[in-house]
Amino acid sequence: MAITIEKKVMTKYIGILTAGGDSPGLNAAIRGVGKAAMGHYGMHIIGFRDGFRGLMENRTTPLDGGQLSGILTIGGTILGTSRDKPHKMPVGGKMLDMTDAIVGNYHDNHLDCLVCLGGGGTAKNALRLKQKGLNVITLPKTIDNDVWGTDITFGFDTALGIAAEAIDRLHSTAHSHHRIIVVEVMGHRAGWLALGAGVAGGADVVLIPEIPYDIDSVAEAIRERARRGSPFSIVAVAEGAISKQHLALLQAAPAKAGSKKAARVKDKGPADTRTLDDSEAAAAAVLYADRTLHLAKRLEQLTGLEARVTILGHLQRGGTPSAADRILATRLGTAATDLIAKGRFGVMVAAKGDATRPVKLEEVAGKVKIVPADHPLIMSARRVGTNFGD
Ligand code: F6P
Repeated sequence: MAITIEKKVMTKYIGILTAGGDSPGLNAAIRGVGKAAMGHYGMHIIGFRDGFRGLMENRTTPLDGGQLSGILTIGGTILGTSRDKPHKMPVGGKMLDMTDAIVGNYHDNHLDCLVCLGGGGTAKNALRLKQKGLNVITLPKTIDNDVWGTDITFGFDTALGIAAEAIDRLHSTAHSHHRIIVVEVMGHRAGWLALGAGVAGGADVVLIPEIPYDIDSVAEAIRERARRGSPFSIVAVAEGAISKQHLALLQAAPAKAGSKKAARVKDKGPADTRTLDDSEAAAAAVLYADRTLHLAKRLEQLTGLEARVTILGHLQRGGTPSAADRILATRLGTAATDLIAKGRFGVMVAAKGDATRPVKLEEVAGKVKIVPADHPLIMSARRVGTNFGD
């Protein structure tokens, strides 16, 4: 009994995992949490492999030796990650609720807190564990920058730099060959990355999920540039951007198109009353999957200019984190240990100006921080002539 009391008073045991897509800055955050926890507060820390799956399978890795040295600048996550959810995990060919196994492993490892590094989905999963009585804290990571409640997420700045540099380089071919270059940037639900990279790289057209575009308006902007002596254009398109026409198709037959994505976009605008037949619905689903290729093809037809597509994909998530991401991850990671030391749990550590602040997981979970239509950066972009296809 005396030993238990001593442990509770003197030493805290924390677990840490990374969940969702990998992102630059994850290792810097693990280091920030680990070094502050051990060096400053004298806590013990263990890592769980591959997100919630590793916690469910109790696959641990020690973090109290040299494991935290030399990782500040390294991309990916030394812990590994997965998109597995506690309540819906593929096990033996079935989807099972493994929450109880997770709760059991938390207690078997005598944890006082579990730190989960991830995006909006991870906040939701952490909230479920909180509701099962676990002490959890999350840190906001994603290159998409779409986590509600924080000024910014780590990973975003690095990806922004990569995407902007790609647009810079693509200008050479666009200009030399008088082509349209359509560059697809990550971001299914929010257009922060496409908007930021588009503005930084001087894209002529920026298409984001928040502003359904009219392909004729995009084509006209490109033709107008050509008439003014610039027969080339860069179109920065977020992977979740969608045309008004295509949105109407999906709205007309969300059930037939069948995907979760179709159901999601259904809420985004006025519904089309026409009902699609099976082949039209199937066509809509295909168009949705390949919409960037389809966009380039249509622009070629509508403008008479050659078009090429570059999909940046996971390049944007890889490699050395930027200085800004290393700093942000260190700030958030160390702030998490301050909260643990104070016994403040059930929160995400958000960036707020130069400071950090705890935001209750109930406030974060299930929300997405999208780009407001009147965001100052959209206004600035419009002022310098950027077309948003609306
Ligand atoms: O959420 C981050 C993100 O990079 C999104 O921008 C992208 O849509 C998605 O992950 C890709 O996920 P995956 O790596 O599982 O294909």
